[in-house]
Amino acid sequence: MFGALFELARPLLHALDPEQAHELTLKALEAGLYPRAVGVDDPRLALELWGMRFCNPFGLAAGFDKDARVAQAVLAMGFGHTEVGTLTPRPQAGNPRPRIFRLSGDKAIINRLGFNNAGHAAALVRLKRPLAGIIGVNVGANRDAVDRASDYVAGICAFSEVAAYLTVNVSSPNTPGLRDLQAPAQLDSLLQRVLAAREELVAAGKPRRPIVVKLAPDIAEADLPGIVEVIVARGLDGIAVGNTTLARTGLAEPRQGAEPGGLSGRPLFHRSTVVLARAHQLARGAVPLIGIGGIDSGAAAVAKIEAGATLLQLYTGLVYEGPALISRLKSELLAHLKRDGYARVGDAVGRRAATWAAKSLAAL
Ligand code: FNR
Repeated sequence: MFGALFELARPLLHALDPEQAHELTLKALEAGLYPRAVGVDDPRLALELWGMRFCNPFGLAAGFDKDARVAQAVLAMGFGHTEVGTLTPRPQAGNPRPRIFRLSGDKAIINRLGFNNAGHAAALVRLKRPLAGIIGVNVGANRDAVDRASDYVAGICAFSEVAAYLTVNVSSPNTPGLRDLQAPAQLDSLLQRVLAAREELVAAGKPRRPIVVKLAPDIAEADLPGIVEVIVARGLDGIAVGNTTLARTGLAEPRQGAEPGGLSGRPLFHRSTVVLARAHQLARGAVPLIGIGGIDSGAAAVAKIEAGATLLQLYTGLVYEGPALISRLKSELLAHLKRDGYARVGDAVGRRAATWAAKSLAAL
C-alpha cells in the first residue's frame, strides 16, 4: 500500500524544494509510513564479507540518513545494508541554502550540503538502541577542525561499539581541502592514525570493525596507483568508489549543471564505474570494493559488479524511482545473473574489470 502511496506522493515531493522533500521523506520513514520488503531474498543474491552475511548486495549510500534517524526503516524496505553519516564530532549547519538541486532530465542531483549533521553524540544515542541488520557508519571531519585526522579517529572511537563497519570519507567535494587527504602521503598518515586507534580499541576488548575508505571518482588517472598502494599496504578492509563528482560532462540541463557541488546519479555512472574497475585492477583482489554512482537498474548493478564491486550502494536512483526500485533492482540483477551464467552474485565480481578499466574518462 505504501508503495502505491509513494507513486502518488512523488510528483508532490518533487514539487517541493529538494531539502524539504528529503525531510518529509525522513519524517514518513520515522513514522513507519514506508513499504516493507516482502519475503526473503533469493539466496543467489547473498554474499559473505567481513564475517557477515549480506542478504543482497544493495545498500543505501551515505548522505540520505546523515543522523542515523531511519536505519531500521531503510533495512526493512529491502536494502541488505545501510550507511549512516557523514557524521562529524561536533554538530554543524553546513552550507547556506539552497544547496540541493534536482536535474530531473538527467536523473541527477547536485548537492553542496557540506556535512550538515547533528554530530556524534546525537547519532550514537540512536545507534545504541537495539537495531537489527548491517549498519555502517561514515565518519568525517568538522569544517573548522584544526587536526582533521583526530576528527576521524574520534569517529572510529565513538562508533566502533555500534557500527558493523566504518567508512572514512575523504572525498566530499563540499568541505574545502578535504579531498587533499586522498594524496598518498596524507592518506597514509591518516590511515595509520585511524588503524592505530582501532588497535587500541581492540586491545581494550572492543570488537574489531572493518574500515573502508571512500574515494572521489575525480582522482586523476596518474594518482590512483599511489592511493591504492597505500590502502593495500595499510591493510584496509574496503574501498568505496565513490563519492559525487565535480565533473559536468554530458548533462542535458547545463544551466543547472553550473551549480557548484557534487553531482550524483545517472551521469556519474560511467566515470565511477571506470575508476572502480581501475581500483579493482590495482588492488589485485586484495581489498573488496563498494561500487557507488548512478545505479538505477539491474544492468547498471551487474556492470558495477563485473567492474569489481562486491557491495553496491545507491542514493539518487531512489529519489527518482522511489522505494519500488529496491525490489526491481533485485529481480533485474537476478535475471542478469541467470542470463550471463553466474550461479551467485559473488561469481560476477570483477569478471569484466579489464574492459571497464580500459575505457576512457576523457571521452565523456
Ligand atoms: C551524498 N553523498 C554523501 N556521501 C558521503 O560519503 N557522505 C555524505 O554525507 C553524503 N551526502 C550526500 C548528500 C546528497 C544529497 C547526495 C545526493 C549524495 C554521496 C553518496 O553517498 C553517493 O556516493 C553518491 O551520491 C553517488 O551515488 P548515487 O547517488 O549516484 O547513487
